[in-house]
Order: sequence, then structure tokens, then C-alpha cells
Amino acid sequence: MTAPDDRAVRDQYEAHPYPARDPADEAGRLITGSPSHLLEVEHYVYAGRRAGALTALVAGGGTGDGAIMLAQHLADRGGGSVHYLDLSTASLEVARARAAARQLDNITFHHGSLLDLDELGLGPFDYIDCCGVLHHLAEPDRGLAALVAALKDDGGLGLMLYGALGRHGVYPAQRAIRRLAGDQAGAERLRLARALVADLPAGNWLKRNPHLADHLGGDDAGFTDLLLHPRDRAYLVPEILAMTAAAGLRISGFLPPGEYDPANFLADDELRDRARALPEGERWALAEDLSGALKTHVFYAVKAGNRDGGAARPDDPAMVPVLREMPTARLAESLAKSPRLSARLGGVDCRFELPADSAEIVALIDGGRSLRQIHGRLRAAGAKLDWAAFKARFDAIYAVLHPLNMLLLAGR
Ligand SMILES: C[S@@+](CC[C@H](N)C(=O)[O-])C[C@H]1O[C@@H](n2cnc3c(N)ncnc32)[C@H](O)[C@@H]1O
Repeated sequence: MTAPDDRAVRDQYEAHPYPARDPADEAGRLITGSPSHLLEVEHYVYAGRRAGALTALVAGGGTGDGAIMLAQHLADRGGGSVHYLDLSTASLEVARARAAARQLDNITFHHGSLLDLDELGLGPFDYIDCCGVLHHLAEPDRGLAALVAALKDDGGLGLMLYGALGRHGVYPAQRAIRRLAGDQAGAERLRLARALVADLPAGNWLKRNPHLADHLGGDDAGFTDLLLHPRDRAYLVPEILAMTAAAGLRISGFLPPGEYDPANFLADDELRDRARALPEGERWALAEDLSGALKTHVFYAVKAGNRDGGAARPDDPAMVPVLREMPTARLAESLAKSPRLSARLGGVDCRFELPADSAEIVALIDGGRSLRQIHGRLRAAGAKLDWAAFKARFDAIYAVLHPLNMLLLAGR
């Protein structure tokens, strides 16, 4: 990494490790998210099989969110390890301190560029996380190729790239700041940029973009990452499909799946039917165009030739359903009171209704029981339910909870 732009990217993250994190907070909570939640990796990379003792790479690990979460999940399972890699020593030190605060000894920290994975002698890996990094490279395709070269044939990637439509207004604002304050250093540039954001006229697209308000009002690291970045770009779904296909990858899912389902953004039955008939990639792209709110694209991918991997489907009685984070009893209790759920997907408030008798099935989802065992439990309790009838009830629950990223198939 020697080009001036590359140095500018590194300098930005030396000055503003992102996201801003205090290692002392590890005592009180584990930050979870996507990609790289172990249950998601099992669902979207290993088709619902238990991943075992993974060797993972978190490329561009920043202040550690993905690396810490995955390392903690692996430690809780009793096996596996994480390699953290970043250009920024300041970020690396925050991540290292967070690992120490959690007494995690399964992370190895490396300082360097993901473009140099080969020279660093790292890999091959079962799983690679690269969240919010490739869009900062001069040649994102080269970065992705370097990651794929370090990935085992049956492994998978969890990626995040910026979304073009949800970031509407960011790039004109970045250009305006460069024009007005580009020659200023550090704190002065930040002060002028904050002044500009406060002074934007009513019609400005950044000011009118409600999906970015959290970064605009937030800490310096977030504000800088959004508006003072020396280099970033954003993607439409078809561009991601082309980029991953060119790298020999197949996308196993965008998250949360409900944000990539056009049915959640259409009320007209005929239009919904037409949307449903489209191929998967077209549906994802249509959802992005309709929503307009997707500012990041989180997705998992496996090698195109990996036929045993990819997304799990609830079609095998041996599959183990698991609720992500949500305690089973709490969800079952709430569904017993009301089968309705609401969620904000792609900037839209959506309402869903589960079948009236969902609570008794949900109460049996413990991340250990397979679908067959849950069916057996219900029958033992007196339910007159053959497999097909049980499966239809489970599918109706899955059809609501999976798109919200609440229910996965993992650890079979
Ligand atoms: C926006 S931060 C994301 C951090 C982390 N992945 C997350 O999601 O919280 C981007 C990180 O990528 C790192 N980075 C940028 N280019 C890189 C490269 N070529 N190799 C390794 N890290 C890089 C930066 O130093 C920075 O820490």
C-alpha cells in the first residue's frame, strides 16, 4: 500500500479507528451483528450444518466488532480461531484490548493489507469476514480476488459493501466538503464539514436522506467515515452480483432477507405476483430499487463450485431451527398473546401475522432439537399432527421469522 490514496485511507483509520469502541464496555455486553454471527455462518455458508472448529479471517477488522463476536461465539463452542488483519495499528490496538477484556485467547492479530495475504502467509481459511472494507480499496475486485485466493473450496465469505441508493446525497456532500475544506487538516476540516452539514439548504439530498441521520449527528469517527473519507464507493445489487460472479463466487443470501424481498415493498397483488416470478437476483435488485433505503449490503457467498454449501433450506427433518439472540420463552410468550409482529424493513414499517398456534412450536425451538424432534414432542403431547401438517405450520412460522433474521437453521 504505497499510493497516496492508500496512505490517506490508512491515515484516516489511524486518526479515527472505526467504529469508536471502548474496551471497558466489554464487561457489560457483546456486540452482535451481521455478517459473521456464527449461526448465520452455519446457515448461509454450511447449509445448516454445524461449522466445527473454524479457522476464520476478519480482513479489515477495524476496532473488532466482527472479530470479537465470532471469536466469542467460537470460544463458547469450545473450538476454532480468528485471525484479525488491519492496516490501522490504532484500530488493531482497540480490538486487541477488547479481546483482552473478554479474556479471548483465540484471536491472532496481524498488521497489514488484505492485498498482501499471500505474502503474509495467511490462509487458507474456512470463513472470511470483510465488512465495510472492499469499497475503500482502489481496486475492490483485486481485494475480493485476494480473499477468494485465501478461502478453502468449501468455505465462505461474509461481506458488507455500501448500498448506492441508501447513501443518496453522500457523494455530493463529500465533494462539497473537499471543495470548501479540502486543504485543511484534521480537526479544522472536521469542524468545517460539521458546519456545512448544519448549513445545508432544504433541497440538499443528504439533508433529505432520513436513513443517514444517525451518522450525521453521531461521533467524530462515524461522521468522518461518512463524509470525510478519502475513498469509498457504493454498489447496486446487480453490480455486486457481477463482482462476485467474476470472482468465482455465488451469493447465498443478502441480510436481512426481508429487505431483499420486493413483496415487502409492494401492496398490489398483480405486481407482487410478477415480482415473485422473477429469478432470485432480479428480486434482490428490484427490492433495492423499490426500498431506496438500503445503505449497506450485507451478504454471504460461497465458491460457485461448492454445491454442498450455501444457504440452508427447511426441507430436511434433521435441520435444527435456532432463534438468533431472542430467548425462546420470551418470543413464545409474546406470540401466545398476539401472533402479530411488526418490523422496519428497508425504511418501511411492515406488519406480519403468524398462524394462531405458532407459540407451541416456537416454545420448542431451543437450537438443539431438530424439526423431527420438535414434531415428535408435539405428538407426544397429544397433537394429532402428521409430518406434512407439522411442516406446513413450521413453514408458515419460518416464512415470517427467517426474513427478519430471527430464525435460522444451524448446527445440525
Ligand atoms: C469501515 S472500517 C470497518 C471495520 C470493521 N470491519 C467493522 O465492520 O466494524 C474499515 C477498516 O478497513 C481497514 N482497511 C482498509 N483497507 C484495508 C486493507 N487494504 N487491508 C486491511 N485493512 C484495510 C481500515 O483500516 C479500517 O479499519
